[in-house]
Amino acid sequence: MEAVRFEDFSYQYPKTGQGLDRVTLSVPQGSFTVVTGTNGSGKTTLCLAMTGLVPHFFGGAMSGRVMVEGYNTADRAVADTAANVGLVMEDYESQLVALTVFDEVAFALENAAVPAHLIRDRVLAALESVGLAGLEERELSALSGGQKQRLAVASVLVSRPAILVLDEPTSALDPEGAADLYELIARLNREQGITVVVSEHDLARALPHADSVVVMAAGRVALAGPLNEVLTRMLSEQVYDAAVPSLRRLKAALETEQRQFSAWMTAGEAAAEINACLKSTRRLSLSA
Ligand SMILES: Nc1ncnc2c1ncn2[C@@H]1O[C@H](COP(=O)(O)OP(=O)(O)O)[C@@H](O)[C@H]1O
Ligand SMILES: [Mg+2]
Repeated sequence: MEAVRFEDFSYQYPKTGQGLDRVTLSVPQGSFTVVTGTNGSGKTTLCLAMTGLVPHFFGGAMSGRVMVEGYNTADRAVADTAANVGLVMEDYESQLVALTVFDEVAFALENAAVPAHLIRDRVLAALESVGLAGLEERELSALSGGQKQRLAVASVLVSRPAILVLDEPTSALDPEGAADLYELIARLNREQGITVVVSEHDLARALPHADSVVVMAAGRVALAGPLNEVLTRMLSEQVYDAAVPSLRRLKAALETEQRQFSAWMTAGEAAAEINACLKSTRRLSLSA
């Protein structure tokens, strides 16, 4: 079963009439999917549609379906869909409601009427998994931006959703904080099998961890599929190709029919392979 499936899903916000246009898309269980595209291309709306907030909260018109773990989001209350899919919004600070770290994470469980004696262990486990153990009594106002972001992730994880959706999670973080956050969500994906969907315009950050990419353009899915295939098509079909990381452009420029490189994710990988290639070229010219 797919974690999320969009079936010919169209949606228009009230007032602007903009939104999503005939989206058909499958997010495999356990995958790490990056949703990218220019501003206004529909990344946030796609995230919101996975949680049922579109259309339940925003109103507007829709057709087609969004299935989350086999449930049609249109037929369920947003709170019920939240048991399957957790959303960390771009403006994650607006998601935080409590005074202290512990209370923030406990909030969702208290709302879901989880027995009090179970709450403490689950809150501590969620904080541990995002690297905030020991900060339970800290006031939110004393946290850094990166810590608040991780707290928002913990508040969602504590409900044990199978799917974690993060909308532009690093837009407010410095490069180091952004790298840490991606390490964290990659670990949740790898070790806990959580399906991850991240919307991100800065592809270079997300790609080392991703296995699938969706490129949105004007509310439609322009490209979707396995990471390497989509990156190649972004370049060859010039779809949001300016966003393709420089290493991948270099690889495309260097490759010929006789010479293909593996999928470079880091400069180290690229350097190792280019070095090996140079060595074998030298060997060839020596033996000639
Ligand atoms: N709350 C809203 N009300 C009306 N139109 C909206 C709203 N949010 C987004 N839109 C419109 O929907 C389209 C997709 O926006 P969005 O999903 O926010 O794109 P992205 O996240 O890629 O920047 C845009 O044309 C945008 O103007
Ligand atoms: Mg957005």
